[in-house]
This record gives sequence, structure tokens and C-alpha cells, in this order.
Amino acid sequence: MTAHRHALGLCFVVLLGINTQAPVLAQDLENGQKLAEQCSSCHGETGIAADPTVPHIAGQSAVYLESTLIEYGNGTRQNPLMSPIASDLTSEQIRDLAAWFASFELQVTVPTLKKKKFYKAKPPLG
Ligand code: HEC
Repeated sequence: MTAHRHALGLCFVVLLGINTQAPVLAQDLENGQKLAEQCSSCHGETGIAADPTVPHIAGQSAVYLESTLIEYGNGTRQNPLMSPIASDLTSEQIRDLAAWFASFELQVTVPTLKKKKFYKAKPPLG
């Protein structure tokens, strides 16, 4: 029993060792850029869509982009425009596209609102 545990533990350590030494799967940004040409008609070349019914995807996190494209591809999320596009993509292509759009840098300016009273609470009647 203890011998088994030791063996298992050793296996685990060896696996972890291999895992940490393996190179991180590199996303191919160039491939992502090429693939993104088919997205630009709707999402814009900069990932900022001109059409207000199409979401901006520039600078979105790779995790979100990847999972969303997987969801369109497998039917978890459905959209007549996106579903056929995503279901034609391989998981590698999805990773590359996600990495490409995630690498865009955005600058955001949050508006400062002037303090304004929108309504005045009325005292309860009676
Ligand atoms: C024909 C127009 C069109 C094309 C081409 C297109 N998209 Fe889209 N995309 C849309 C629309 C419309 C939506 C919003 C769909 C919805 O409401 O779910 C969307 C949604 C998305 C979303 C989800 C965004 C979010 O905020 O949830 C991602 C990610 C995305 N598209 C990526 C891509 C990528 C990558 C490509 C190219 C491979 C692409 N799209 C090509 C129209 C398009």
C-alpha cells in the first residue's frame, strides 16, 4: 500500500516536472492576423465594429474570445452570423484568433459625471 502510494507520488512529481518544462503552447499571432481578415467586414480591421449591432472584440481577453468562439462553434451560444463562422474554425485557429484580438491595446476614458440630482424623493403621502 505504502509502496503504491510512493509510486503514485513519484509519478505525479515526474508528470509535473515534465509539464513545467514543456514549452507553453505558442499561439501563432501571424496566423491569427491572417484569419482575422474574414472577421474585419463586421468587427472592423481594428476589432472595433462600426455597426452598432456588432460587438467590439479588440483587446478582449483571450480566455473570453476563445470560450465564446468555442460556444458558437458547438451551439452553446447561437447566432446566425457567428455560428457558421465559428463552427468552421479548428481549435488551433480559435486560439490564434483569440491571441490576435487579445493583443490589441485599448485606451479607455471613463467619463466623469457632474453631480446632478435626477429626482427628488417625495415625502410619503398621508
Ligand atoms: C457577418 C458578420 C460577422 C463576421 C464576418 C464575424 N462576426 Fe463575430 N459577431 C458578429 C455579430 C453580429 C456578433 C454578435 C452575435 C451575438 O449577439 O451573439 C458577433 C460576436 C462575436 C463574438 C462575441 C463577442 C462578445 O462580446 O460576446 C466574438 C468573439 C466574435 N464575434 C469573433 C469573431 C471572429 C474571430 C470572426 C472572424 C473569424 C468573426 N467574429 C466574424 C458578426 C460577425
